[in-house]
Amino acid sequence: MPEPLRLGIAGLGTVGTGVVRIVQRHAKLLEARSGRPISISAISARSRDKDRGVRLDSYAWEDDPVALARRSDVDVFVELMGGADGPAKAATEAAIATGKDVVTANKAMLAHHGHALALAAEDAGRVIRFEASVAGGIPVIKALTEGLAGNAITRVMGVMNGTCNFILTKMQHEGLTYDAVFDEAAKLGYLEADPKLDVGGIDAGHKLALLAAIAFGTQVAFDDMELEGIERITIEDIELAADMGYRIKLLGVAQMTGRGLEQRMSPCLVPDNSPLGQLESATNMVVLEGDSVGQIVLRGPGAGEGPTASAVMGDVVDIARGFRLPIFGQPAASLTKAKPSRASIPAPYYLRMKLQDKPGALAKIAAVLGDAGISIDRMRQYGHTDPTAPVLIVTHKTSRSALETAIAGMTKTSVLVGEPVAIRIEAV
Ligand code: NAP
Ligand code: HSE
Repeated sequence: MPEPLRLGIAGLGTVGTGVVRIVQRHAKLLEARSGRPISISAISARSRDKDRGVRLDSYAWEDDPVALARRSDVDVFVELMGGADGPAKAATEAAIATGKDVVTANKAMLAHHGHALALAAEDAGRVIRFEASVAGGIPVIKALTEGLAGNAITRVMGVMNGTCNFILTKMQHEGLTYDAVFDEAAKLGYLEADPKLDVGGIDAGHKLALLAAIAFGTQVAFDDMELEGIERITIEDIELAADMGYRIKLLGVAQMTGRGLEQRMSPCLVPDNSPLGQLESATNMVVLEGDSVGQIVLRGPGAGEGPTASAVMGDVVDIARGFRLPIFGQPAASLTKAKPSRASIPAPYYLRMKLQDKPGALAKIAAVLGDAGISIDRMRQYGHTDPTAPVLIVTHKTSRSALETAIAGMTKTSVLVGEPVAIRIEAV
């Protein structure tokens, strides 16, 4: 009888209880696929008494996740508590120091400490697996580290935060405001403990930073990312973008350019008939581009109990099978420090503004754009009852610096009311 692979699970929330359910429900299937049983030795959470809707009485309980990580009857420490620092990091370090492999869904911890943790783990001959931390149930880390290992990756792109896509698509379909749909996302278990991580684009930025490290053989560089969330996106922008044939998505793009590593996570317009434009609800989509394979599109559930636990268990089964890979696809000591590049490749932009409805107002704005070298592709002025006219301009491709010059110029005219809204239109 082969020895079981014994798990210690810290965190019994949405993801942790999902993992316990799979271990219990699929014991035979997991054993057949792994060649050995997978069992749970011990668990930890903050509250021992909480009813979690799953049987836990046969597992040892630890109040302290660090103590759980150090137990001698644990082979794999499964970290599902969350948080970049604190108990998650302390327990992960303790697990590595006491010879355990680690499986985690914690993109925040890895985005901030992934390189140091990978160095420590590889030094100790251990692995850290983190499929669940990027795009929920989509096996994107496997795709990058294994299936596409023969490619130079040219671009990684995607919608990787279920909460934001849920909010944006619900606002669009139901004509609701941001605040009205936020609570529903919380009820569905999509939100991080601190929802600012979701709507501020930080959670999706963490995920993109991890993918970029694998794709480009670089040390995780979350702090170098250009980051903007969806809080300033209004129903007006969503509807006007739709009128022009676009959808607004919180889109991540990472690519190695001649100037360095460009990583940005920000609201972008994408064509409404593109795969990304058609992406609904909490579904995630990751687009991977390689020099030999061309473009791969992976689509699937990006959050929630089942999909995330599915990804955790994929990693557990790999460890049970004895399958081991460098944590970021190549030895951590060989990952280079990328030079960050903030300058974006030129793109068209969506510009929404309010102008005083008087003769020559539009001409002044057009002149400012022309002076900055920006050409107008399409322009619409909408009907209105107040004295200001809503105007929408789609530019031809322009650099970000030219756009910033134009916006500064517009604010100096006497016809602009308030601040213009500028959103990049991404070629996808
Ligand atoms: P959650 O529902 O808030 O659960 C967190 C769990 O951690 C709870 O059981 C909590 O205990 C426990 N915990 C927190 N601090 C602890 C401490 N100091 N000691 C022991 N236990 C502690 O979170 P979740 O949604 O399952 O997310 C877990 C991780 O998965 C996070 O890193 C998250 O980013 C990641 N993730 C989540 C999803 C998703 O869809 N939810 C998807 C992908 C990745 P109590 O229950 O007693 O409070
Ligand atoms: N809060 C995250 C999301 C969970 O909404 O996508 C999955 O990482």
